Amino acid sequence: MEIISNPTRVEINKAAQALKDGHLVAFPTETVYGLGADATNEKAVSRIYSVKGRPTDHPLIVHISSINQLDKWAVDFPEYAIKLAKEFWPGPMTLILKRSEIAKDFISGGQDNVGVRVPSHPVALALLSEFERLGGLGVAAPSANRFGKVSPTSSTDVQEDLGMYLEDTDQILDGGRSLVGIESTIINCLSKLPVVLRPGSISNGQINKFIDAEKCLESKLVSVNAPGLLFAHYSPNAKVLTDGVPNVGDGFLALAEIPTPSGAIRLASPETVDQFAKVLYQSLRFGDKKGVKRIFVSIPHGDGVATAIRDRIQKAGNAD
Ligand code: TXA
Ligand code: MG
Repeated sequence: MEIISNPTRVEINKAAQALKDGHLVAFPTETVYGLGADATNEKAVSRIYSVKGRPTDHPLIVHISSINQLDKWAVDFPEYAIKLAKEFWPGPMTLILKRSEIAKDFISGGQDNVGVRVPSHPVALALLSEFERLGGLGVAAPSANRFGKVSPTSSTDVQEDLGMYLEDTDQILDGGRSLVGIESTIINCLSKLPVVLRPGSISNGQINKFIDAEKCLESKLVSVNAPGLLFAHYSPNAKVLTDGVPNVGDGFLALAEIPTPSGAIRLASPETVDQFAKVLYQSLRFGDKKGVKRIFVSIPHGDGVATAIRDRIQKAGNAD
């Protein structure tokens, strides 16, 4: 497996060809790094599952280069989905839509719907555009970590997690540290109104602009089968705790304004909630590297991205 730092246009084009040839290419996105495969190639997609160690009924998000590719993968989408796509793509948002015939069971986990996203990282966009120029339709990409573990926000994270499972012909494209740091907001667009299935940096407040408050309650009754979202762990090896006082040698993560309890090992001091999201997974991984047994996280208050941070920390804490 080859790691390509600061890939040039030629190198990105080669990676797109590798995807077309059925190989796996891990690539940077603004949320987290993804493990990509041609979303129409069953054999390539099946390798995603084995490399990640992920159950095959967990559907995959299809990544495309622009909203113009959307009708290849999805049909009968509501008008609000188009509005959301126009507003937030390219960006950290995934829409769950009724699938087209192109989206096979091996992408959708056998469901009648498909998740689609246009990422904004320039390397991801260049890779997807070239892949489509070569005749590709979309790139399936879950986060490039082992199942249940912390998502990767750098190419080194990907190499550490998956290097031993990848083949010589697979590639990892480096594109620096992911700017958002947590996975995309997933929005179910299968009912009359949008429903957030996984919070992310695009907040409910931003999405609610498109919703009539009265109808919103009604739409919450409709759900899709999202196994990965219910059981996802995002877990480091250390135990993640949000209450109590750390002992000497425990890890500690909090906003910069909160002082480090005596004897605890400070993992990061983000100044803002956005920065907190950006360093969250990096800090959990850092704690594991330091060999700490427990990581205390002082979770930020508020809505928006703070909601997404709380969601991930809660799931990390559920690990055992
Ligand atoms: O930011 C992101 O979304 C990253 C980057 C690489 O794009 N991708 C990502 O994919 O987080 P993944 O597979 O690690 O997490 C997506 C979650 C999984 O739990 C999956 O089961 C769920 O979303 N999911 C995907 N498609 C779905 C669908 N059609 N219906 C319900 N849940 C879906
Ligand atoms: Mg994941």
